[in-house]
Amino acid sequence: MAALTSIKLSEDKIEIVNQLLLPHTTEWLEIDTIEQAHDAIKTMKIRGAPAIASLAALTFSQHLARALRASPPPPFLSSVDALKAHVTPILDYLFTARPTAVNLGAATRRLARTLDASIDAGMDIRTITETLVEDGKEIAREDVGRNKEMAKWGGEWLIEEVKKAGGSGKSLNVLTVCNTGSLATSGYGTALGLITYLHETGKLDRAYYTQTAPYHQGSRLTAFELKTLNIPSTMIVDTMVGSLFQHHHIHAVAVGADRIAKNGDTANKIGTYNAAVLAARHKIPFIVVAPITTVDLDVEDGSRIPIEHRPPLEACIVRGALYPPSLDAQGGKAQAAVMITPEGLDGIYNPSFDVTPAELITAIVTEKGVAIKGGDGKFDLSLIV
Ligand code: MRU
Repeated sequence: MAALTSIKLSEDKIEIVNQLLLPHTTEWLEIDTIEQAHDAIKTMKIRGAPAIASLAALTFSQHLARALRASPPPPFLSSVDALKAHVTPILDYLFTARPTAVNLGAATRRLARTLDASIDAGMDIRTITETLVEDGKEIAREDVGRNKEMAKWGGEWLIEEVKKAGGSGKSLNVLTVCNTGSLATSGYGTALGLITYLHETGKLDRAYYTQTAPYHQGSRLTAFELKTLNIPSTMIVDTMVGSLFQHHHIHAVAVGADRIAKNGDTANKIGTYNAAVLAARHKIPFIVVAPITTVDLDVEDGSRIPIEHRPPLEACIVRGALYPPSLDAQGGKAQAAVMITPEGLDGIYNPSFDVTPAELITAIVTEKGVAIKGGDGKFDLSLIV
């Protein structure tokens, strides 16, 4: 079966798979406006740091491409000042959809820089707009290629580490958290890409993944991706990480990242920190796999990373298909959101991400290679960004 994808692009049409309904229903939603893209990101119909940046960039690009084709052209194509006044609030607005993932901000800032550079270069308004259209598409395109690179870097590094520790470098077991595969990116994935690489090169025994409550990106999305790719895998409930490490030989934990601070502290899906603490206790390498754009050198350490708190209700409900299965009115699998708490709880803590201190991270893998700590026990990420 072909790998899954989060975004389909054809001519002037952008569609996303509604990740709130996966894996039971594959519903494609057309994203036709900037507002729809913002809403899809905010409500998690699309999620995963690189995927949300790609959608924002593509929708921006689509918006400008349509303007270029419009007759008569919209007023904002009448002058460079009008274009800038139109485009800047759009980029600012897209940026506000989710605060933790730095990729979204990196994409919107890059487009703003492209605009400024094109103006400074003295381009005419059509050329400036065309350049922005292309840059938006390029942001989405770049993702797939770099994912394959980081997967290879990280996979080969892990094989060598296991060999150095006296292992064969084969039959590796790797735990991951959340969903970092094709659904979270433009393709192949980051941490799940590393796992896929090990599988493709015959070095993987099993992938393990946590369910990743409360949104269940693990049991809904990672499970679906691994099944689609025919990768042998085992799901665990989030509370079972310690037990897994006690009873199974896990060679590494590989996770993605939403933002990596200058010192290597890493924000990723809630529960990542728990896995890192337990990995350190069991001396299991803990690997962060993410594109260079996830490294935010403007943020000194993890305490400065803005952490998104999701609406409390989301921690009280579980979504899924009815069991035993039954059909909905359209003949698809009937789905429901089920409340698992008493109604009206007033104390609900629901951060979407946590920060794993650099101290607990063995390696940070990007498309440029593998960063490990220096003699001082610290990462120097300025060398790779
Ligand atoms: O809230 P989500 O589902 O967008 O969170 C996703 C994660 O935390 C991923 O691990 C991260 O974005 C990296 S995806 C390649």
